Amino acid sequence: MRNDLNEFLLQTGSQGWPARIELRECSTRDGYDILDMLHEIGPGENGFQNSAYNTKTEDFKDQLSRWIDMSRGIGLKPGYVPETIYWLFVDGRPVGMAKLRKYLNDKLRSLGGHTGYCIRPSERGKGYGTLLFGEVLKKAAEINIPRVLVMCREDNAASRRVIENNRGVLQKIVDGICHYWVRLDKDTGMREIHPDDYAEMVELWKNTPGVGISETDTESDILKFLLRNPGLSWCYKAGGRIVGTSLCGHDGRRGYIYHTAVLPEYRGRGIGAMLVQKNLQQLKLAGIGKCHLFVFADNRPGQDFWCATGWTRRGDICVYSQSID
Ligand SMILES: CC(C)(COP(=O)(O)OP(=O)(O)OC[C@H]1O[C@@H](n2cnc3c(N)ncnc32)[C@H](O)[C@@H]1OP(=O)(O)O)[C@@H](O)C(=O)NCCC(=O)NCCS
Repeated sequence: MRNDLNEFLLQTGSQGWPARIELRECSTRDGYDILDMLHEIGPGENGFQNSAYNTKTEDFKDQLSRWIDMSRGIGLKPGYVPETIYWLFVDGRPVGMAKLRKYLNDKLRSLGGHTGYCIRPSERGKGYGTLLFGEVLKKAAEINIPRVLVMCREDNAASRRVIENNRGVLQKIVDGICHYWVRLDKDTGMREIHPDDYAEMVELWKNTPGVGISETDTESDILKFLLRNPGLSWCYKAGGRIVGTSLCGHDGRRGYIYHTAVLPEYRGRGIGAMLVQKNLQQLKLAGIGKCHLFVFADNRPGQDFWCATGWTRRGDICVYSQSID
């Protein structure tokens, strides 16, 4: 297994010198050495697509700008999610490229996954594929992706080794395509909620008495909420699954907390209070000085929780609502 960068630095390099390895995010400063690599890679193979393989020199900077926009979620085509392009450099030479998608949608869950990668043909078989995927996983961890879905053809032995060298676990093979998962988050403890947690969270809310799931709890609504409120919503994991959530957002003046829920069998351990405390800390960092929340009038245990954790029940405010068609 060769997925450790330091170990790799010691073992590799021409004339016995350690190789200089760098994963660089695509930028408008990228040089034409990248374009040469894109030409060498060609249109792609084994499901990896290189749409830029025939880009002309005069169009290269525009192509880079389009990739940067895509990474920022600007001008995405319908059904597309933000995707960042990375280059692997070894001793200053670009040897491979990878794509990392910030979250999954239904289409990517069935085909595509979070990531794709390619090593230029002249540099294959030197361990760079394993190294590139390992570095991409670090980037995925930095943006809080809890588990990375990566796919490759069943007969793509090199790619399967790359994934398995990086702790990939084969979940299933569908129509000759392997679906591997690499877990990045901890088994136990608190972490920020990621859009890919949606299905697991809905399951939790459905199994938690007192939590109301409304028409604004679809996957796209929750995604919109999380993207508008980075860093504010948290969950708690135990035994490898999500057992508590607390969603939080703000409108620039006041904070709001929703779906504070802990599975019945995990209650009484301070998980709910810890999640809400984290919401409030993050709101404070965002410059918000007050937070509200709504509790169903018949949710007695819920009301007891809020009273016991220092919240004041307001008798001077009525909540009014109106649907906007
Ligand atoms: C898949 C790919 C990225 C691998 O890159 P690489 O730099 O050659 O991979 P590595 O040198 O890290 O080799 C990884 C493992 O695959 C093995 N391997 C390499 N080529 C192989 C082949 N043709 N058949 C069987 N095993 C092979 C290596 O021996 C190594 O195994 P080990 O770690 O057990 O020693 C590269 O072949 C490629 O770019 N292919 C085209 C695009 C693609 O298929 N991408 C993946 C789908 S998204």
